[in-house]
Amino acid sequence: MSAELFEVTPDPERITESLRDTGYVLNTAVADIIDNSIAAGADSVFVELKLDPRGNVRFSVTDNGIGMDRNGLVNALKYGSARRPDPSSLGKFGLGLKTASTSFARRLKLTSKSENGMPAATAIWDLDLVPVQGWQVSVDSQADPIDAGLLEKHTAGTGTVVRWEKIDRLIRDYKNPSGDRAHGAIKRHVNSLRDHLAMVFQRFLDPEDTRAANVKISVNETPVDAWNPFGFGSDKLLDASIPVDLGDKTTTMHLKAFVLPRKTELQAADGDGAPALARLGNKTQGIYVYRENRLIHGPDWLNMWAQEPHFTLCRAELSFDHELDLAFQVDIKKSTIILDTALADVVFRALTPPRRAAEARYRDGQRSRARDMSDPELHAPSNAAIKDKSKSIPNATLQSTDESSGTAEIRNDHGVVKVDFVQSTSGVFVEAVDELRDGILYQPAYIGDNPGVRISKSHPYYEKVYLPNQASGNTIQALDSLLWALASAEFRSAQDSTREIFEDIRYDVSRALKKLVEDLPSPDSE
Ligand SMILES: Nc1ncnc2c1ncn2[C@@H]1O[C@H](COP(=O)(O)OP(=O)(O)OP(=O)(O)O)[C@@H](O)[C@H]1O
Ligand SMILES: [Mg+2]
Repeated sequence: MSAELFEVTPDPERITESLRDTGYVLNTAVADIIDNSIAAGADSVFVELKLDPRGNVRFSVTDNGIGMDRNGLVNALKYGSARRPDPSSLGKFGLGLKTASTSFARRLKLTSKSENGMPAATAIWDLDLVPVQGWQVSVDSQADPIDAGLLEKHTAGTGTVVRWEKIDRLIRDYKNPSGDRAHGAIKRHVNSLRDHLAMVFQRFLDPEDTRAANVKISVNETPVDAWNPFGFGSDKLLDASIPVDLGDKTTTMHLKAFVLPRKTELQAADGDGAPALARLGNKTQGIYVYRENRLIHGPDWLNMWAQEPHFTLCRAELSFDHELDLAFQVDIKKSTIILDTALADVVFRALTPPRRAAEARYRDGQRSRARDMSDPELHAPSNAAIKDKSKSIPNATLQSTDESSGTAEIRNDHGVVKVDFVQSTSGVFVEAVDELRDGILYQPAYIGDNPGVRISKSHPYYEKVYLPNQASGNTIQALDSLLWALASAEFRSAQDSTREIFEDIRYDVSRALKKLVEDLPSPDSE
């Protein structure tokens, strides 16, 4: 066989246009640009995102890093820039600057200064010139005056301005490009960007955090403050170093898990605004994954579990360094990782207990809310109805009561038997109480002189079946009647020798109902 070699040079227009659709959203794109600034040693980064009076979007990122000379500028604009010498760097693929920028803009302009006292230069990558210039870029030693001005203003010597022009994919084409709706759209982007950067670069932004170099970031001249998902008085339940076998060597990743205070606890500790600051909610629960101190993924449960309201209070931190890039299959946007099954298994087992603790804390809160929410008169109509009918329903007869031991002696067809007793004013047959022993739903008891039933407001059945139906008197009465009838039948049939059997039945019914209502929504779930 004689093989021939053929040139398969990529078509610049096809490649660069296709790479506009790698799936960047603005927040991840800007974070990628800022990665480059941090990798260049910058400690100040100024982001500008505005609408100019003519309705054009203005976007730039200015940093005071080491800057680039002419060769550096050319390398920076190359799809597949030279590999960075430092493997721990936040840059990895040689693509981020181009793909992030062209996801939103057709022209990328770099103005940079790599030596103090020397003039800045500007390099331009323009998608509309690709059909003519191919892979060639222009570098102008006469720097763009506006960006040279930004460098003057924001840096003491060296630095870089990344500017996007011809921004065609950020906001819709509004009829009035400089009208309120366009301004509103930009404002929403700015707010969301601020929140995103506060979370992604938290370890860099927080001057107290010693894990990463300190960097100041501002958006439209307003500083971005670090947002630490694990603050807010949360409890740390796990802090583990997990060995990862890489074949030729073993390295470690770090896994921590936290349980946050509930909404009401945050409010009690730090005021009404505290839950919003902690961003409590479904979308902020899960694993926050950090590569080299920068949040690259999450929060979510990495496909191990779904994000559900009862895990709202659980947040975990998974940190690793560049040595684990291959093991974690970090993608080009550096926003997705995949754990192999062995690692996923370790994380799954380690996070199960803290997740349970977070769930218990959440459910406790739901229960106390259920107690607070229930109407004290909820069972009054049932009591009136049962009082009316109870005379015609055969029942045991009350023999004696003992307040100190909380027991009553009753007589039924089988003899005398001891049952629970509580003092009460007359006319109560059904009573809702905060809690019953062993977490059961209902407990037969003589309430004053009446055969009655006590129902636990802490049982999920009360929270999920009773409370949502508070407005329907008939439903509440039907539910109460059923539980009362069960209790009353128990008084008629119980004997000392069978008491435990009845107790077991109640326990099993309560447990089954707890399971059966598990997936029903909680009223006003947080
Ligand atoms: N703000 C900056 N200051 C100095 N050099 C920069 C700056 N931004 C980019 N560069 C240079 O341009 C190169 C290309 O950047 P680009 O983001 O495309 O790739 P990368 O950061 O190496 O890898 P990745 O694709 O993972 O982001 C960088 O390697 C760096 O040399
Ligand atoms: Mg990069």
